Amino acid sequence: MIEINPTSRINGEIHVPGDKSISHRAAFLGALTRDGVEVSNFSPGQDCASTLACLEAMGCAVEQDKALNTVKIKAPAGLKEPKDVLDAKNSGTTARLLLGLLSGIPNLFAVVTGDESLKRRPMGRVVKPLVAMGAKIDGREFGERLPLAVRGRKLSGGVHALQVASAQVKTAILLAGLGAQGATTVIEPSPTRDHTEIMLEYLGVPVLKDGLKVTVYPTSSIPGGSWRIPGDFSAAAFWIVAAAITAESELRIKEVNVNPTRTGLLKVLERMGLDHAIEDETLSGGERTATVAVRSSRLKGTTVSPEEVPSLIDELPVLAVAATQAEGITEIRGARELRVKESDRIHAMAINLKALGAQIQETDDGWIIKGRTALLGGRAKSFGDHRVAMAMAVAGLVATGPVCIEDEECVSISYPGFFDDLTELTQTCLKEVSS
Ligand code: S3P
Repeated sequence: MIEINPTSRINGEIHVPGDKSISHRAAFLGALTRDGVEVSNFSPGQDCASTLACLEAMGCAVEQDKALNTVKIKAPAGLKEPKDVLDAKNSGTTARLLLGLLSGIPNLFAVVTGDESLKRRPMGRVVKPLVAMGAKIDGREFGERLPLAVRGRKLSGGVHALQVASAQVKTAILLAGLGAQGATTVIEPSPTRDHTEIMLEYLGVPVLKDGLKVTVYPTSSIPGGSWRIPGDFSAAAFWIVAAAITAESELRIKEVNVNPTRTGLLKVLERMGLDHAIEDETLSGGERTATVAVRSSRLKGTTVSPEEVPSLIDELPVLAVAATQAEGITEIRGARELRVKESDRIHAMAINLKALGAQIQETDDGWIIKGRTALLGGRAKSFGDHRVAMAMAVAGLVATGPVCIEDEECVSISYPGFFDDLTELTQTCLKEVSS
């Protein structure tokens, strides 16, 4: 358990870890390239380590320099049948992208599993379109839950209209499509993160984009490439909110990915009155990268609509914290997907914020939050969910007394250095406390 103490300032400059979504994709696509992919600033989180371990178990060569934070990924002899079960652990992206990759490798047999949280999460959304392409996949609850067994075979492309807006599902189908017969088109209900499309184009693979439609074609050889992965906007989000809601803050977050499919939080916070600037924008591996500068801001409530949700899905827990510090009502609608993340995030944040005195009502697909509330010290549970733990740490910064976070180690899923960075930015010492 860790104790977070109130502070009035979050000052200075910070680099956040490399983007988790982009790192997963660099590893998966690297395994499909002829000469391999070499990236710096690869995500140091456990989720991306799970992806690398699964790819290594399939004969992929992974050279990682932890000091320099670089990773080289290459499968010189192609991907091979793994000798054991592939364990995606807590990582939904690993499991779903693996299913797409494995389905189209003829004759290969593999079983994909995960930890208790991942075994509860829905897999039918990715299994069904892959089966429609000809994949052989079976498992618990008729293919809805891990563990799932895959027998790879030659797939056919086709047109796939998705029921849920999910970049993981889109990517799994596109990965399968690269080796399938004929074109593969995905039609999304609303735009989701487009890192796969950007990376494929950067690697020289043709991708046809037309509104909500994206098409790939059979590709026999992808040469490879090398680039720097930008900082993770979803990690930056905790510091953006922390600086906004504390009284005397001025923070610059350097080299952050500002891909507009990811930065919905900035748009929403802007409406709420955020004082911020985007500076020094460049491109890295085809992705927009910039410094995000944030100052203490007087926030007011807003409504987040269902259409906006995919662009800030992972940032909603920390937005809920911001809403407790905003004047008036904030309503978040159309975010039912939060119930099937690493934890039921709608419930987890409502329980935790209520325990600190917030006025938050849990709805079926979001929250109604009334601010501004002076949060009280107390206890918060991570529910084993990295984003819940980090969001509650941010809440602790504006509480009137210490907030103790249970099972905080889960932050290492995406941001192992989170509490070190918090210490550095607030210039206070964090205390480990026994439960
Ligand atoms: C991700 C997509 C999102 C997001 C997850 C990472 C990705 O999930 O919540 O953290 O890397 O594609 P869904 O595809 O389930 O929406």
